[in-house]
Amino acid sequence: MQTAGPTSWVGRNDSDIAIADRYRLLIDAVRDYAIFMLEPAGYVASWNPGAQRIKGYSSDEIVGQHFSVFYTPDDIASGKPKYLLEVAALHGRIEDEGWRVRKDGSRFWANVVITAVRDDQGSLVGFAKITRDLTERRRLEELEHAHAASALVQQARENEQRRIARELHDDLGQRIAALKMALSIHGAELENALPTQLHAELEAIAQIGAQIDALAVAVRRVAADLRPTMLDDLGLEAALEWLAEDFESRYGVSVKCRLKVSEPDLGAFATTALFRVVQEALTNVARHAHAHRVTIELENDAKLCRLRISDDGVGFDPRSASRPDAFGLIGMRERILQLGGLLTVEGRPGAGVTISADIRLPVDIHPALASTGR
Ligand SMILES: Nc1ncnc2c1ncn2[C@@H]1O[C@H](COP(=O)(O)OP(=O)(O)O)[C@@H](O)[C@H]1O
Ligand SMILES: [Mg+2]
Repeated sequence: MQTAGPTSWVGRNDSDIAIADRYRLLIDAVRDYAIFMLEPAGYVASWNPGAQRIKGYSSDEIVGQHFSVFYTPDDIASGKPKYLLEVAALHGRIEDEGWRVRKDGSRFWANVVITAVRDDQGSLVGFAKITRDLTERRRLEELEHAHAASALVQQARENEQRRIARELHDDLGQRIAALKMALSIHGAELENALPTQLHAELEAIAQIGAQIDALAVAVRRVAADLRPTMLDDLGLEAALEWLAEDFESRYGVSVKCRLKVSEPDLGAFATTALFRVVQEALTNVARHAHAHRVTIELENDAKLCRLRISDDGVGFDPRSASRPDAFGLIGMRERILQLGGLLTVEGRPGAGVTISADIRLPVDIHPALASTGR
């Protein structure tokens, strides 16, 4: 097939190359569009390299065949190819988007324009058909859709967790506190009234009191894991510091925070996401790293937000295939993607792990999320 560049014919006069040939060369040079002619009844009359590239047939294989071979069985059954030609003949042109079939049976998402071609007398001589492969664009659109949907699910989960956290804290927490108080009051009265031989019983009651205290702490901790009220009350910087201190005291790993956060620039959605990413990263350090030290760095200005969490633990190779149920890193990546940012995981066996996220501000969040706040 000829792929003459424009310089090979521009500048020559019409006697060198007929106008029709120029068009032929032009069409043959096009790779990104399938451009071909159909006879009035729909049989393929010409073919270009773009058509070969997109649809897989060579010119020899397809010229003379009916163009319905490009359509899915469903479309053929519903008479779509014929219908498209009828409308093009009636109105001059028709545009369509849909699945088309390549020679090898694979499908691609096509944008198709069919234009009726008439001679000087107005009789139909055929159709010009231009097809573009939009599969990649459609895949990106679907991906964007999926991100938006998963952002909504994430948001719904956050809301639900916040509700449960409030219930736990306000209801269960208060009940436990009241129980403890009642036990203490009755215990104190008994202590004064009881003969000394029953003081062992009193000791047992005191033990129950201590267990109730531990229960209260556990409930508060579960509530805080679900939804750190600190994030609402004191903001991201304080909430991260609290997370770091809590982590230090729970796991004996030293955590250093370098935080310079401007919450108004980040917005509520990003604030929650960043908190969750740090929380998950610390959970991973506790579970996998055997680290001595962790550093959390977060800073932002009006244009950019940078987050880094690094540990000095055993490390791992992020390129190695991960377990199918390992959703921690996937979840972090997803949260940062929803903010239009990028999360990278650097690590080597024996050399710790660094998780970095760069987010451009202001965050362009899905309209459905804009109203839900945190
Ligand atoms: N800080 C870290 N240090 C060492 N290994 C890590 C660290 N973070 C993650 N990993 C490795 O990456 C894997 C995937 O992590 P993740 O997606 O959070 O799943 P999970 O924590 O449930 O295993 C972990 O199983 C672990 O092998
Ligand atoms: Mg994990």
